[in-house]
Amino acid sequence: MHFVQPSRTTTHLTFVGGGTLACAILDGLSEQAASTALRPSQRTDYSVSITVRRQECIEQISKRYPGAYVTDNNDDEKLWLFDHAPAVHIILICTKPHSTSDVCERIRLAHDKSCPPCQNLPVVVTMCPGITISKLETWLRLGKNQNSFTVVRTMPNTPVSIRQGATAFFTSEHATDEEVESVVALFRVFSPCVERLLEENLLDVAAAVSGSGPAYIFQLYKCLVAAGVECGLPEGLARALVTQTGVGSSLLANNQAEVPLQKMIRDVCVPGGSTEKGMKSLEDAGFQAAVANAVSRSLEANRAMG
Ligand SMILES: NC(=O)c1ccc[n+]([C@@H]2O[C@H](COP(=O)([O-])OP(=O)(O)OC[C@H]3O[C@@H](n4cnc5c(N)ncnc54)[C@H](OP(=O)(O)O)[C@@H]3O)[C@@H](O)[C@H]2O)c1
Repeated sequence: MHFVQPSRTTTHLTFVGGGTLACAILDGLSEQAASTALRPSQRTDYSVSITVRRQECIEQISKRYPGAYVTDNNDDEKLWLFDHAPAVHIILICTKPHSTSDVCERIRLAHDKSCPPCQNLPVVVTMCPGITISKLETWLRLGKNQNSFTVVRTMPNTPVSIRQGATAFFTSEHATDEEVESVVALFRVFSPCVERLLEENLLDVAAAVSGSGPAYIFQLYKCLVAAGVECGLPEGLARALVTQTGVGSSLLANNQAEVPLQKMIRDVCVPGGSTEKGMKSLEDAGFQAAVANAVSRSLEANRAMG
């Protein structure tokens, strides 16, 4: 699928960094554009620029996302100046946290130097844990008497690539409703769940739970497949049974949000039956404490990134 060219009616997206999460989001956006299930009026047109760090990535990313403008130079004027300024410009910082201050500096300088005052400032979206809105606003502060960028911190996860992501977000105080809505509309394309947080420190908790969550869930799948194979199931068959069990269980829990998870567990555990025995064994091995510790270790690391 081709991304469109920037125009006064498009939302323009600039991805800084073309790694795992950026590509997962771009895949989700591409999937929407290719979806025949959606009427044209249900789709949003996005024009896209992507910056990468290594020359060899330019060709690879350009091939994967036709129509996107790809460069290895964050100072490239084409990233920040448009013949036809888009209706909304959203910059998504998709680098590792330690590169964020440098990237913000490049964005600030580019807008300080070259952007005409009539061009609306972009909304800056981050997805890294630890780095607060206040820090981001300091790094992005423009010269005297100029407006400052609106910053939205988000925490998506890799299922965005198949438009099944879960995203938490927190916005800077002066974000307008229109700015927030444009970011929410973008994330809704690839995240059925987009939740606004009322306290900024909860974003790092969301990172530890749903940002890292796919890894924990895949680990459980891996353990279940290995146990099945150990007991004689062919690996492909074990994987098919386990992953569909995950899909079905997630849909069930999602479709019946009012039913407590404990009740769903009870529904599978016939008293005195085999599942109950399996669950007791998990409990005896400290399953709940192990999960709580994993989240707490991850949270500690997220907070240390600031
Ligand atoms: N992956 C996840 O599941 C996930 C989930 C939630 C949040 N996040 C957050 O999302 C962010 C990105 O994570 P990721 O997993 O996508 O990392 P990643 O795969 O390492 O991607 C980062 C990309 O940024 C590029 N880069 C670094 N500095 C740059 C610069 N100055 N200009 C342009 N590109 C630059 C890197 O290029 P090189 O390859 O040349 O180094 C790399 O391709 C992190 O803050 C992470 O915490 C990730």
